[in-house]
Formats: sequence, C-alpha cells, structure tokens
Amino acid sequence: MLDAIIPAIVLAIWLMLPAYIANPTAALLGGGTPIDLGRKFIDGRRILGDGKTYRGLLAGTACGLIVGVAQILLAPHIAPSLAGVVSPDQLTTWTALAAITMPFGALLGDIVKSFFKRRIGLERGAMLPIADQLDFVAGAWLLTYIVDPTWIAANFTPAIILTVIVITPILHVATNVLGYKIGKKNVPW
Ligand code: CTP
Ligand code: MG
Repeated sequence: MLDAIIPAIVLAIWLMLPAYIANPTAALLGGGTPIDLGRKFIDGRRILGDGKTYRGLLAGTACGLIVGVAQILLAPHIAPSLAGVVSPDQLTTWTALAAITMPFGALLGDIVKSFFKRRIGLERGAMLPIADQLDFVAGAWLLTYIVDPTWIAANFTPAIILTVIVITPILHVATNVLGYKIGKKNVPW
C-alpha cells in the first residue's frame, strides 16, 4: 500500500510545487494596488477586495516560475536519488510554459474564488472551506489544460489527481497556520 502511496505523493508535490508556491509568496510579497482598483460590483460590494493585488499576482507567478525552472534544471540531478520512488521520466516533464501557467492559473483561481466570496457577502479573509483549499488547484489545472492539454493529460493521471485533491487541503492548512503564526496572514486559513 505505502509502496504506491509514497511515489504518488512525491510526484504530486513535484507537479504541484510551482502552483503551491504561488499562494504563500503572493501573501508574503503582495500588497499595494488591488486588482479591482477599489471598485464595487453592482451589488455594492467590492469586486474582489483588498486581498487580491497586482503585486501578489505578479510576485506569486514569478516565484512559481523560478521554482519550476529550478525543477527543470535540477531534475536530472535529483532523479538518481529518487530512482527507487519515481522514474526519471516522471520528473523531467516540466516545461517553461507549464511553469508559468501552473502558478498564474493558481492565482487566477484564487481571484475567481474571491469574486464569488464577495458575491455571497463574505468579507476579505473570511473562510470558505474547500473553495479556499482547492481554488488554486482548479485554476492551475484549468489554465494549463487550456494552454497545453497534452502536458496535463501526460502528467496528471487519475491516481495523481486523487492524491493532489487529498494532500492539498492538508498542506494548505499547514502553511496558512504557519503564515498566521509568523504574522503574514490575518487569519489562519
Ligand atoms: N495576496 C495578494 N494578491 C493576490 C493574492 C493574495 O496581495 N493575488 C495577498 C493579500 O495580502 C492577501 C494574502 O495574500 O490578504 C492572503 O491571500 P488570500 O488568503 O488568498 O486572501 P484573503 O485576504 O483571504 O482574501 P479573500 O477573502 O479574498 O480570499
Ligand atoms: Mg483567504
């Protein structure tokens, strides 16, 4: 059982890392002009709110891209030590394009979620379980699928998709509690 689960977790993290990096780095480096420029929607509430900024979007995407490029460069060196766990072919699939669309899509998913949070009357930072944890997974997959469907199909097998859906909320809650404790997030979610 573990023989199948551990490789799936290692590969899932490897494939999601640039998307995973985007959220916390947007939180660390974001701020300044909000994407909605402070404007309100027809319901009188903010379109997105002050928690979605241009700097967060750009910095989060850039950090995800840097991590993705590092993975492209490091894959040949890391592959031998992981040989018993995942095959080298599975680690060397990163492309520069995917390293942009995964983090950028992740943050677009987060923005779309904020739009809907504001529409149902949730203020910035209010918790919306499941959506808060999986918004960026959906965004990363959707944007990357639109731009490069074969990359998604080749890497995200049903087993990996399931693994990502199970481990992401756990990792997300853990990083947010950490972010809250070091004072980078106002709420621990
Ligand atoms: N952030 C940003 N720009 C983004 C995404 C995030 O500047 N595109 C920063 C903001 O400072 C935000 C923090 O990261 O407050 C945490 O992100 P998140 O939890 O997604 O935002 P919330 O403040 O919880 O807002 P919302 O309720 O809209 O999700
Ligand atoms: Mg939040």
